[in-house]
Amino acid sequence: MGHEMKLALAFLCFTSFYVTVARASAFWEDFYVNFGDWMVEYPGDEIEAGNIVDLRLDNTTGSGFRSKYPFLYGHIGMKLKLVGGNSAGTVTSYYLASKFEKWCELDFEFLGNKSGEPYILQTNVFSEGKGDREQRIFLWFDPTEDYHYYGIIWNQDLIQFLVDDTVIRVFHNSKDLGIPYLDYQPMYVYSSIWNGEDWATCGGKEKTDWNLQPFAASYKDFEIDSCTVHEDHNDIHDCYEKLYSSGYGQPENRKLSQKQIQDLKRIQYNYVIYDYCTDAKRFNTTPPECARNWPQY
Ligand SMILES: *[C@@H]1O[C@H](CO)[C@@H](O)[C@H](O)[C@H]1NC(C)=O
Ligand SMILES: *[C@@H]1O[C@H](CO)[C@@H](O)[C@H](O)[C@H]1NC(C)=O
Repeated sequence: MGHEMKLALAFLCFTSFYVTVARASAFWEDFYVNFGDWMVEYPGDEIEAGNIVDLRLDNTTGSGFRSKYPFLYGHIGMKLKLVGGNSAGTVTSYYLASKFEKWCELDFEFLGNKSGEPYILQTNVFSEGKGDREQRIFLWFDPTEDYHYYGIIWNQDLIQFLVDDTVIRVFHNSKDLGIPYLDYQPMYVYSSIWNGEDWATCGGKEKTDWNLQPFAASYKDFEIDSCTVHEDHNDIHDCYEKLYSSGYGQPENRKLSQKQIQDLKRIQYNYVIYDYCTDAKRFNTTPPECARNWPQY
């Protein structure tokens, strides 16, 4: 059998599932605009077209995009430059979410602020429909000045939230403690900008200044190295096999490295302003999965 024939056959076997190679792809290869399309702009010259996307918000609507397919495990990320100047009241969200009734979700939410005041990055994890796992941090840079990378690395044992190359949060598989893990529901990637003036900035005290509209958040370098699950196909076992044979599923990546533990401690000491795990007023008993976090990891 000729080489090309073998390749063609191999390809046929994987038409429903494939792991893409790590790559930065054009926006529309993996995503489409799912609301406010007249507010979306594609700046950049011909070469860059499709590599930069601006989502905008005015007093009539926000805007957003969604991935074409859901993904299971691997590495998913992109670069964002947030609304500059007075961004009070605006919320830029970037999240992964599944579709079942008892859904899973991984959230990054960027809460704007008045000029010169710091953004808050709020993250949250939903497993089988249960969230209430907020963590809030200040960033160690101005996220409106330049593009920074935000992403997740996800395997059978842990989910890392990344800002540039720093782990800011980890959600461990705590099924042994009775907490459902995100291990069987593929998730779509979403992003949007919307008006959250009722709660976002200083607890809702700072409203959106519509004299400054439209507000724009910019995206580029869409990277997906994950298992794509096509809608007409419900069998996700191929994704498990891909995970086990990929780097993400190997023993060294199923626990945190010393550097990652140091990073998490540094973030915890210097940048975390709220952590549900230490909110005794809200929870009578500490949520079980918190036992996996600080100070042990
Ligand atoms: C939205 O802003 C425009 C331009 O400033 C203004 O003319 C319009 O009345 C505003 N609409 C609402 C619903 O506030
Ligand atoms: C906005 O700035 C104030 C004052 O520095 C700060 O307390 C608050 O946490 C900041 N972020 C948001 C989203 O409110």
